[in-house]
Amino acid sequence: MPTLEIRALSAAYGPVRSLRGIDLDVPPGTITAVLGGNGAGKTTLLRAVSRTLGFHGGTATGTVRFDRLPLERLRPDRIVAAGIVQVPEGRQVFARMTVADNLRAGALGAPRGRRAAAQALGRVHELFPVLARRAHQSAGLLSGGEQQMLAMGRALMADPRLLLLDEPSLGLAPLMAQRIADTVREINASGTSVLLVEQNASIALRLAATAYVLEVGEVTLHGPADELAASDEVRRRYLGVVDEAAAADADRAADTPVRTLGRWSA
Ligand SMILES: Nc1ncnc2c1ncn2[C@@H]1O[C@H](COP(=O)(O)OP(=O)(O)OP(=O)(O)O)[C@@H](O)[C@H]1O
Ligand SMILES: [Mg+2]
Repeated sequence: MPTLEIRALSAAYGPVRSLRGIDLDVPPGTITAVLGGNGAGKTTLLRAVSRTLGFHGGTATGTVRFDRLPLERLRPDRIVAAGIVQVPEGRQVFARMTVADNLRAGALGAPRGRRAAAQALGRVHELFPVLARRAHQSAGLLSGGEQQMLAMGRALMADPRLLLLDEPSLGLAPLMAQRIADTVREINASGTSVLLVEQNASIALRLAATAYVLEVGEVTLHGPADELAASDEVRRRYLGVVDEAAAADADRAADTPVRTLGRWSA
């Protein structure tokens, strides 16, 4: 029985259809990745789970269950209380508020008393020591990577059982993206399931157990992440790997001067 079970999910913003017939599972305790380019529907998928689609003028049909609990009729605050928290695309930290107040805001969604909040804060500071050091600074002064840490820390303050991560590596230098990825692994190791959407397929496929490829609102491939990472389709389209044999075939098929030179030099 998966933690998150999505069936026949379709979504639209007015006349714009963004998702069509999505079936997707997040097995308990795992990291599940969704890969896809710009406009594929990744953010829409997460909004359909967190029930925030309406805030963006969207609607959804189909079923979404979390540990058997149907989510379709719940308000976004009930989703958080049920244990699902979304880290939005582009971090969206409260720039004028301090780092500490951003974290405090994260705990509001799931009020559980002071002791639990203090424990959650301790855990967030352990994962991201920089958030303790910069506690009294405005969040807007943090670097992009630090803001991503704050956005994730804020989500963790609600002690989620399922974390929805929207392109955490976006716009980060490779080293910072790797640090964020390491933290995602750590968060998962301590028992939180993760649904991760990413354009950075190499990071996502290394983290995830299972992955889905989303193209123009539809799932076109899914399976174990290592199998997807080995598939020609994914390597070519999402990992930027040039398939040597296919490239050579294309070279032979097209008789252009450049290709002739290539053959000559070989
Ligand atoms: N608020 C909105 N109103 C209207 N159309 C929208 C809205 N948000 C997204 N869309 C459209 O829905 C489709 C899917 O968008 P979505 O943001 O889910 O894609 P994405 O995979 O997250 O892309 P990106 O990688 O660029 O973030 C796109 O065609 C987009 O233009
Ligand atoms: Mg998006």
